[in-house]
Amino acid sequence: LMFLSGLELRNFRNYPLLQLKLLPGVNIFLGENAQGKTNILEAVVLLCIGKSFRTRKESDFIRWENEAAYLKGNFEADDGTFQVEIGFGAQTKKIKINGQDVKGFDCFAKVPVVVFSPEDLQLIKGGPQYRRDFIDLYLAQIDPKYRHVYLNYYKILQQRNRFLKASFYSPTEWEVWNEQLIDKGTQVILYRAFLLEKIQSYIATAHSRISVEREFLKLDYCCLGKYLNPERNETGIRALLEREIQRVKGAEMERKISLAGPQRDDFVLSINQGIDLKTFGSQGQQRTAALALKLGMVEVIRETREKPPLLLLDDVMSEFDDTRKLSLLKILINSTQTLITATSRRDFPDLPAGAAFFGVQRGAVSDVD
Ligand SMILES: Nc1ncnc2c1ncn2[C@@H]1O[C@H](COP(=O)(O)OP(=O)(O)OP(=O)(O)O)[C@@H](O)[C@H]1O
Ligand SMILES: [Mg+2]
Repeated sequence: LMFLSGLELRNFRNYPLLQLKLLPGVNIFLGENAQGKTNILEAVVLLCIGKSFRTRKESDFIRWENEAAYLKGNFEADDGTFQVEIGFGAQTKKIKINGQDVKGFDCFAKVPVVVFSPEDLQLIKGGPQYRRDFIDLYLAQIDPKYRHVYLNYYKILQQRNRFLKASFYSPTEWEVWNEQLIDKGTQVILYRAFLLEKIQSYIATAHSRISVEREFLKLDYCCLGKYLNPERNETGIRALLEREIQRVKGAEMERKISLAGPQRDDFVLSINQGIDLKTFGSQGQQRTAALALKLGMVEVIRETREKPPLLLLDDVMSEFDDTRKLSLLKILINSTQTLITATSRRDFPDLPAGAAFFGVQRGAVSDVD
């Protein structure tokens, strides 16, 4: 068990003051456009991982014409309750857990969170960077060690690129950078392969439950120029990466940039044995798949961290037909604490029993029954 029981916002975005009690199950925020629905989800994400899914510019959080913003979340967990507070000043940020100052990273994903927003269609339609960011953000929430593995790799990658750009070329130095790249790169790939292998059956289940046609969703990890077989072990990946580095050597010298390694990773989603969703999926199919990725991630986090993440769904309902809406709601009941925003109550054809409804209007939230 893990859920957000209370939320307080002061001068955050368009909220002068908000004090809210939430249910452990489904919490639905209804309101017209531009009233403050997404702002609430953003605040919850900040309390969970210390950064927003919308912007890096922290001064944007402060309500206009004010000096500072304050957020507080009270969480209930199996091992007791705790409180996270964040204060944003014009140039400063302060985080506290149970009243004690902490560094940003110490609070990162203490409560894991999975967000689905309309931009996540890019996970299907967009470039590979969207998919790598998706993998990396959630791996960091699954295992805090991944952050170091990832940062170590990208540091080496940058240095190797600098080496390739320098006019002076030394074969021994080339070997040194290769060894580093292979060491660190193999670790990144192992983590990603672990996640993508684990998520496979969960996304397939989520996707077939939401889709009417009982479509089968499949994910393939594209790594080092091929579909990476999940059974590959450390030795196998090292060997692949080594071979790939030799293969692209000429091209690297010419283009002066590293061309082999997990910085070029991607994954492909297909339905019903090989229909590539990016090229052939309908809008609805693509949205369903993007959502299935997020619901799958909820289950991977539940399994690996032994506690479920919060699930935040921004504007998801209006995009689906009634059948998909109903199946989604069925999945959400009894899943994990979920916050959903929507513009109309009609988006909930079958009102989930026990769900809380809130009305959002011009930076204020009221109970709706
Ligand atoms: N720092 C800020 N100070 C004051 N108001 C802000 C600030 N940042 C954003 N806003 C305002 O908050 C309002 C609500 O934003 P939000 O994105 O939460 O709306 P929403 O209810 O999700 O709408 P939609 O249905 O269109 O997605 C916007 O009108 C925006 O101008
Ligand atoms: Mg919104």
